[in-house]
Amino acid sequence: MAQEMKTAAVIGAGQMGGGIAQVAAVSGLNTIVYDAFAGSLAKCREGHGKRLAREVEKQRMSGADVTAALGRIQYVESLEALKGADIVIEAVVEDAGVKRDLFAKLAGLFPAAGGTILASNTSSISITQIAGAVGKGGGPERVIGMHFFNPVPVMKLVEVINGLATSRETTDRVIALSQAMGKAPIPANDRPGFVSNRVLMPMINEAFYAWMEGVAEPTHIDEIMKLGCNFPMGPLRLADFIGLDTCVHIMDVLADGLNNDRYRACPLLKQLVVAGRLGDKAGRGVYEYPTK
Ligand code: 3HC
Repeated sequence: MAQEMKTAAVIGAGQMGGGIAQVAAVSGLNTIVYDAFAGSLAKCREGHGKRLAREVEKQRMSGADVTAALGRIQYVESLEALKGADIVIEAVVEDAGVKRDLFAKLAGLFPAAGGTILASNTSSISITQIAGAVGKGGGPERVIGMHFFNPVPVMKLVEVINGLATSRETTDRVIALSQAMGKAPIPANDRPGFVSNRVLMPMINEAFYAWMEGVAEPTHIDEIMKLGCNFPMGPLRLADFIGLDTCVHIMDVLADGLNNDRYRACPLLKQLVVAGRLGDKAGRGVYEYPTK
């Protein structure tokens, strides 16, 4: 029987970290959100207030439940303030070096004997590689991938990735936690892009090739895939939603990790990134988002 968790720490108050923290708090966990930037924390807190107010408006939660959920979230600017958490979920930038440095620090802050699980929300970076940063004494058996999907409060899936050293107990506890958070945990092995991005990202990349080669206009590519395949968003619109820089990054992980150039990012996709057209977050990507 997996030990029940009471406190979750989330590192990174961006779109993914903020969403994970919201879902954790709503599910009853004491939640501590850390970000090095006070501005990100303030934005995250404001987002939680707005989104949970909407839950009341839509009569999906009572005002009292929302107040209680918000009361369970602490926003902190120091990593030390995460001490005591049963699980740390890292949701920082998709950069292997940054994640490895952070996990090395976490291993120091949370000695392995304490049993705190160290999870990464990475979309494609190897869990085994991240776990390597905690060292043998740092407890690589408690390092695991917990890959959420955007928007986290809406999307049901948590892709659970075991690294080479991940223990059965860690996996069981993360599966139990994901279910307690109202999610559907599904296992995948630690191979580049896992399952989700191994399958999704080449499709998105191909949509950029279709656009670059003039097969159809972006809006037509998206409409064809929406209406023909019943996707909620077309692949180009989804790329904007995910972030074009993230798409390039994931294609790089696939191309390098699988050692196959067929996964190289489309030149047009890379060009948009170089131009700063990163998608929704930049106000412009494939499409324009004047209000963002
Ligand atoms: N946070 C919280 N809730 C959100 C949200 C957000 N960022 N964006 C939308 N929602 C909620 C809305 O509040 C709305 O709920 P409500 O009206 O009942 O309150 C509900 O989602 C539906 O939103 P809308 O009516 O505005 O719009 P849609 O019906 O078009 O749905 C969508 C929006 C849920 C984003 C839908 O278009 C969708 O499912 N798109 C595909 C998303 C997807 O594929 N995500 C996975 C990306 S891949 C990934 O994350 C992995 C990474 O590794 C790359």
